[in-house]
Parts: sequence; C-alpha cells; structure tokens
Amino acid sequence: MSKTYETIKLEKEQSTLWIILNRPHRLNAFNDVLIGELADMLDTAENDPSVRCVVITGDGDRAFSAGADVTMFPKATPISSEIGSRAGQKTFSKIEEMSKPVIAAINGYALGGGLELALACDFRVAAEHAELGSPEILLGLIPGWGGTQRLARLIGLARAKELVMFGNRLKAEEALRIGLVNKVVHYEKLRDEVREMAKKLSEGPPLALKFAKQVLNFGTQVPLDEGLRLEAAMNGLLFATQDLKEGVEALMGKRKAEFKGK
Ligand code: COA
Repeated sequence: MSKTYETIKLEKEQSTLWIILNRPHRLNAFNDVLIGELADMLDTAENDPSVRCVVITGDGDRAFSAGADVTMFPKATPISSEIGSRAGQKTFSKIEEMSKPVIAAINGYALGGGLELALACDFRVAAEHAELGSPEILLGLIPGWGGTQRLARLIGLARAKELVMFGNRLKAEEALRIGLVNKVVHYEKLRDEVREMAKKLSEGPPLALKFAKQVLNFGTQVPLDEGLRLEAAMNGLLFATQDLKEGVEALMGKRKAEFKGK
C-alpha cells in the first residue's frame, strides 16, 4: 500500500480500503492514467489479506465520476477506442471478479463511465444530491465500459434502454426506486453509512462472502441448472472451513463470531 498514485488517493480504515478517485477539476472523469492506476490498485487490494472490504468513491461532493474524460476523444481512433474500451471493461471486471466485497459510495454525479464503475461494484450507496445516468448517446456514443450489459442485467432491458437511449439523468431517489442503487442517504451521512456497511462486511466470513459473490455474479449468467450446481459445490466447499465451525460455535455459545478466512 506504499505506492503513490497521481489520480487516486487511498485511505485505510481498519480492514476497509477506500479508493478515492482524485481528478476533481474534471469531476473525476477517467483518463488512461486513472483506468491504469485503478486496475493496479484493485490488484494490490485483492492480494492484500489485511483488506477485507473495498470502498470506491470520488473526491469532493460534486462527482463520483463524470465518466470518460472527453478531452481524450479528439485524438482517439476506432482502433485506439476499441482498445480503450476493452481496458476499461477489464478494469471494472476486476471489481466483479474480486474476492472481497466492493461498495460504491456515490458522492455526486455518476455518469457514463462513472455509472459503469458503480455498476461493477457489489453495493451502491448514493448521496441524496447524486445523479446517475448514461449520457453517452447525447454525444453520439454508447457506453463502452460494460454499461449496456450490466445495466440490463441489474435493472432489466426496458429501463436500461430508457437510460442508454434517452441519456436522461436520474435523481438518487428515482435510482433507488428502480433498484439501481441500494440506499440513498444525506451527503453528510454517506461516509458513516458506508463505513458501517464496510465494517459489517469486513467482520463477515471472507470465504463465504467470496463464494456468495461468485455464485451471485456468475451463476446468474449461466442456465439455472448450472447455477444451482455451482451453488451446491460452493456450499459444499464451505464445510471444509474453520469459519463455518467458528460461526456455528459462536451461535451456540451466544457470542460474536471471529472469522479468519480459513
Ligand atoms: N470529461 C472531461 N471533463 C469533464 C467531464 C468529462 N466527462 N465532465 C465534466 N468535465 C469538466 C468540465 O469541462 C468542467 O471543466 P472546466 O471547469 O475546466 O470548464 C468541470 O469538469 C466541471 O464541469 P461543469 O460542466 O462545468 O459542471 P456542471 O455542474 O455545469 O455540469 C455535468 C456537470 C456532470 C452535468 C457536466 O459536466 C457533464 O454533462 N459532463 C459530461 C458527462 C458525460 O457526458 N459523461 C460521459 C462521457 S462519455
């Protein structure tokens, strides 16, 4: 965790790592450096056993992220854009593939790539003033970092089409109503609320959390029968863990379980 980055800040609170997108002058829009640094940090967090939960947020109170940095667009070609799109997709997929829970603390605008980043996280908590959307169509573009796919899977095809094809921004309360975010809180309470969630997740059984995330994310992309088999196999594997023994003993002993991820 000793690396320094140009476009992200890091804060460690017990077992929770906060990754803070740090380009406030551009509303935390993504340039190639930010995509690369986020990817690098996600790899580091994955391999650091002292990290049990990751939170991603934006610097300041204006934006989580306003998406791709459009100042990169004039130089882009179809070839470079396809490569850039795949790089962004791979970075955001790291979040989905990460063995630890990841929370998006949406502190303001989550637009375009900002929304796509939030979509790859396991939980989304938005500040009341946040606005979410996929405005790419207004520029003559479509989402390229997973937005079309993850939106449709999360909120259904009809609503995903509405967001992607009209490019309207949703207020946080509306995003909550359609299941795009898990929770909406006053901006001043955002950090505390997310800290509380991260603490609970950090104290949970890491292997069971990892398997739950895997089965939920990937089991739902295959036929039901395959998903059910995956669920059974993962459920079975957990019977080899010390954490399950600890969980049951703690329940019987009426005490709090101390999970070690073993
Ligand atoms: N890329 C690069 N710079 C961006 C940006 C982006 N996606 N979004 C905002 N910025 C910059 C603005 O150019 C402005 O810079 P300046 O102060 O040097 O002029 C600064 O961030 C603040 O944004 P501004 O537009 O002045 O704030 P606002 O409150 O009036 O509007 C938004 C905020 C988010 C509604 C508006 O900035 C916006 O629509 N941004 C683009 C969102 C988008 O289309 N994302 C998808 C890109 S594919």
